[in-house]
Amino acid sequence: MQQHTISKLKTAFEKDVYKGLTDYPKHLSSKYFYDKAGDQLFQDIMEMPEYYLTRCEFRLLETNARDICRKFSQQGKPFNLIELGAGDGKKTKILLKELLQQQADFQYLPIDISGNVLGQLQTSVRNELPDVDIQPMEGTYFDVLEKLQDVKNRKVILFLGSNIGNLLHTRAIDFLKGIRKLMGPEDLLFIGFDQKKDPQTILDAYNDPTGITEAFNKNILVRINRELDGNFEPDNFKHWESYDPETGTARSFLVSKIEQSVYLGKIDLRITFDAWESIHTEISQKYDHRTVEWLADEAGLMTGQVFEDPEGCYKNYIFRKK
Ligand code: TRP
Repeated sequence: MQQHTISKLKTAFEKDVYKGLTDYPKHLSSKYFYDKAGDQLFQDIMEMPEYYLTRCEFRLLETNARDICRKFSQQGKPFNLIELGAGDGKKTKILLKELLQQQADFQYLPIDISGNVLGQLQTSVRNELPDVDIQPMEGTYFDVLEKLQDVKNRKVILFLGSNIGNLLHTRAIDFLKGIRKLMGPEDLLFIGFDQKKDPQTILDAYNDPTGITEAFNKNILVRINRELDGNFEPDNFKHWESYDPETGTARSFLVSKIEQSVYLGKIDLRITFDAWESIHTEISQKYDHRTVEWLADEAGLMTGQVFEDPEGCYKNYIFRKK
């Protein structure tokens, strides 16, 4: 079926969209949420009262900045502060400020899939914290692993925002193993983990009444329309969120409200949807201590200090190589 199109697909986006929409059940990768409109929608999500994640991690960092930064700089030894998925850097700036205050000797290397957001980050760090030596890098988490091979100094790697939760456990372990391979004995890995909590709180964070999250999830269809010459009608899809309190997995879907067909001109692909057929778009894993310890152990990492926010909804862990 449609074999002729496969060989014509050029970009990773074309290939992934083709693969995801011809698969059963259908899926699209959440990494494609973040074009210019998606970046803005995600910033709006982070401002919503329901999206507790950003607020909790922000408070966690504020409350523990001193201790965290002391661990990072280990009595003033120079290091590279590498951030995976840096985004707007709002939370990281708490640490950058504290590091400057402690006169730490470091260079800041933010990495993000969105060049747009990295440009904004660089400008705002230069304005607000001109003493920070910043060197942004654009790429996906996996491109980044390769880029990290060139970093020779001691590394402190940040992976905030519970972004690790966007990877299934098996992929998270592979990713952590990949990072571990690049770590020396003195390097640190600092990761934010959103915690299991009242399931309603989690559902509300991913399904706000104002529809920002819905627009964010549907933005991937808008992007496909624009970049692949498609005719998705976003109103014909419903944003749906589920949360399983046992596994801690929140999942986002786009569900087709009607039987319909969509055509993507650029890759000459016709896709049909039954009524109520789903496209899975994102997982946002929630954690407990046992699960984090298990992930770390599987990846060959050792847990150091654990920090918690005042509300007890979020934790950040420091790991070393075992
Ligand atoms: N990485 C974010 C998270 O998992 C992305 C996100 C926020 C998201 N809200 C969403 C993804 C809604 C899909 C749908 O928290």
